[in-house]
Amino acid sequence: MTRPVYERPILIRHQSGMMNKFSRVQAMRPLTHIDGVSVDELVATYGSPLFAFSEKTLVSKFRELRDAFTQRYPRVRIAWSYKTNYLDGICRVFHREGAYAEVVSEFELDKALHLGVPAEQVHFNGPYKPESALEKALPGGTTIHIDHFDELALAEEVAARHGIRPEVAIRLNLSAEAVPAWSRFGFNLESGQALDAVKRLVGGDRLELKGLHCHIGTFILDEGPYREAAAKISRFANELRERFDITLSFVDLGGGFASPNTLKGQYLPGDQVAPSFSRYAEGIVEGLSELDYSPQEMPTLVLETGRALVDEAGYLIASVHANKRLADGRRAVVLDAGVNSLFTSFWYNHEIVPAQEFRGVPEPTVIYGPLCMNIDVVRDTMLFPQLKVGERVVFRNVGAYNVTQWMQFITYRPSVVLIGPDGRHGLLRRPEQLQSIISHEEMPEWL
Ligand SMILES: Cc1ncc(COP(=O)(O)O)c(C=O)c1O
Repeated sequence: MTRPVYERPILIRHQSGMMNKFSRVQAMRPLTHIDGVSVDELVATYGSPLFAFSEKTLVSKFRELRDAFTQRYPRVRIAWSYKTNYLDGICRVFHREGAYAEVVSEFELDKALHLGVPAEQVHFNGPYKPESALEKALPGGTTIHIDHFDELALAEEVAARHGIRPEVAIRLNLSAEAVPAWSRFGFNLESGQALDAVKRLVGGDRLELKGLHCHIGTFILDEGPYREAAAKISRFANELRERFDITLSFVDLGGGFASPNTLKGQYLPGDQVAPSFSRYAEGIVEGLSELDYSPQEMPTLVLETGRALVDEAGYLIASVHANKRLADGRRAVVLDAGVNSLFTSFWYNHEIVPAQEFRGVPEPTVIYGPLCMNIDVVRDTMLFPQLKVGERVVFRNVGAYNVTQWMQFITYRPSVVLIGPDGRHGLLRRPEQLQSIISHEEMPEWL
């Protein structure tokens, strides 16, 4: 008798549009207003497409994060992750709330300093800090998080040249429960490399080790890995105290908290699975309880939360340009905003809703952008009602990594607008025009 071939089971999410087994009705509701301002008014003022940010949500997410941690740990610092969204206006909202800046390049450092962030309130991460960046950061009092031995040597050289003894951190990478180690960044903890880095730093006697940093990954849907990382860092800090008499002034757990987005391939919708800030805080603070520090000495806990602070505040408003029927029978819509603006559509199934009342039965629909490129699919298939040409849609939770990772490709990038708490609105970034692009081009004199 031949044995049947084993086939690995897979879960397929049914798109019924009805109540699912968790009793959640997935019925789509239009989003006609954002913080009391009508989508129509925004489009009439700034054109379509456009990104709109809610200042109210930025502030409330920031305070929610701060409160979740300060209720459980005495000293907490939030360093705003610039790469997540470095529009000046967005950064200013967070700095006004007390955020430091977390930067990963000389450009981002320049941007933070230009915005008026004091140099000593900047944490500088990243594997590429050329000499020019260290020359700016170290004498100014910016804390660099050293990524590798060559950077350590370069930082010592810069310190010696300036006759200073800068306070620095080292970045660690480690393995934590089901999260693959991002071993390309920092010094590995388990292999002893991180200890070697500290020995080297102490031996060099040019830099003052004040912090340990670890960013275990991004979109982590569980607090467990943070508990483990915090505990490992704490035990390492205890070892540094015993062996080298080093007392840390901060430990930095990086970013990585999930936003309510839904990753492609994720079974349940993101808003049902993303842990609360309190859950992450419980995990981290429990891990930090392994620190053998007295209550007065407890290091500041630094968080570099990015997407979980800003995603929910961001909306992309777009218009229906055309309706089509594909050869396989599916309905398709062509919007005026595509993957060039919405980079995150490569890994999220974004929530898209009509911006006006609609009628009719939602039908599986492919949502395309305006680019003459096959990759320009902002949702491969979702249940969506039929909209008329010119009607609007709103993408939710798009505040993170879009207005930094977007591409100037084929067409212009749109306006970005902030909606204030009192219903005022204003530009955060002007829409691009021909001049914005050609002003950077040159014509070689022989052409
Ligand atoms: C060092 C560092 N800190 C913070 C962040 C922000 O991460 P997230 O947006 O997942 O919170 C990142 C992003 O990858 C990072 O590399």
